[in-house]
Amino acid sequence: MKTAVITGVAGQDGAYLARLLLDKGYQVHGTLRPDGSTDLWRLDSLGLRNHPHLHLLQHDLCSLADSLALMDRLQPQEVYHLAAQSSVAKSFEEPHATVNGIQQATLNLLEAIRQVTPTTRFFEAGTSEIFSHKDSAMYNELTALHPRSPYGLAKLSTYWTTVNYRESFNVFGSVGILFNHESPLRDQRFVTRKITSAAACIAKGQELVLELGNLEVRRDWGFAADYVEGMWRILQAKQADTFVLATQNSQSVRDFVRLAFASAGIGLAFQGCGEQEIAVVTDFLEGFPDLSSNLHTGQIVVRVNPGFYRPLEAGLAVGDASKAKLQLGWQATTKLQQLCQIMVEADMARLSRK
Ligand code: GDD
Repeated sequence: MKTAVITGVAGQDGAYLARLLLDKGYQVHGTLRPDGSTDLWRLDSLGLRNHPHLHLLQHDLCSLADSLALMDRLQPQEVYHLAAQSSVAKSFEEPHATVNGIQQATLNLLEAIRQVTPTTRFFEAGTSEIFSHKDSAMYNELTALHPRSPYGLAKLSTYWTTVNYRESFNVFGSVGILFNHESPLRDQRFVTRKITSAAACIAKGQELVLELGNLEVRRDWGFAADYVEGMWRILQAKQADTFVLATQNSQSVRDFVRLAFASAGIGLAFQGCGEQEIAVVTDFLEGFPDLSSNLHTGQIVVRVNPGFYRPLEAGLAVGDASKAKLQLGWQATTKLQQLCQIMVEADMARLSRK
């Protein structure tokens, strides 16, 4: 039976990865914040909290001593490092905490592996935020790196730290350059879940107007459950390496809004432009319960709020995951429309249970 450590097990990816590894027969040790403040709702919603092979422990990722002790005690075959302050928007507000926290955590884990368990395989959750997103090219493992946020800067550093430990110390350190990946377990501060939860509330008759930032931005959005499979495959490869995980398609935030509201049975039209842009209800779609008593055509349900604009926007993001397909046999299989449907249905079900 293999032993794996997942840092950030209570996050979206941590929870899906824990489920995958437990299904494969691993003993999984999942780290939580040291102050006991972690909410375990994601593990609960996947029915994992009391799994006999899932062991939760508080761990200070900023302490090298804690990481040394962790490796010494568990002697894991695999470490999946997922814990991080992962909001790009928040990283502009809290650059020091974001950059220091992200850099220290990766360095401490790699150093602990080097000193204590040098054969442990290490996965670094990298990000497409290390690219510039300024042009329409597809981004792959050879694309020049140009981060445009404090979060991207920090992740650029952990990308190189992992590569450096691979090259200097022969640590099996691999990086997944992950494009956006979403799910019903996503926090609502990220745009997809903000949209799907609002679409569900509006369909249920709550009077609210969804306020969003830049609607033009395009993202390559996949389903998180597909991406954790990619992470696992990256650590099963013969050699440590770097792989882009992406769907190879991009859609705008506006497209995502349309798809999400359609998944709730609501047809929309966008009117106006820039800060004046709004979306109004045009019709109710067939095959859904009658929504006409909850909202009316012409109702404004989305408006732009420049307060959600970012100081510097990574405008376009499409990943080229052909290396992962060729070498790992990995592909993102869930289409964006399916993903929207999964997320909106989960948000509707949550509201019905309240
Ligand atoms: N959060 C948010 N809220 N984003 C908005 C909003 C809004 O109201 N309106 C428009 N957006 C735009 C943002 O400007 C951004 O361009 C895009 O929606 C996506 O924003 P997020 O969902 O916050 O994700 P992200 O792309 O910045 O970062 C996510 O993906 C990265 C790549 O995988 C995070 O998960 C990162 O941790 C991850 O590395």
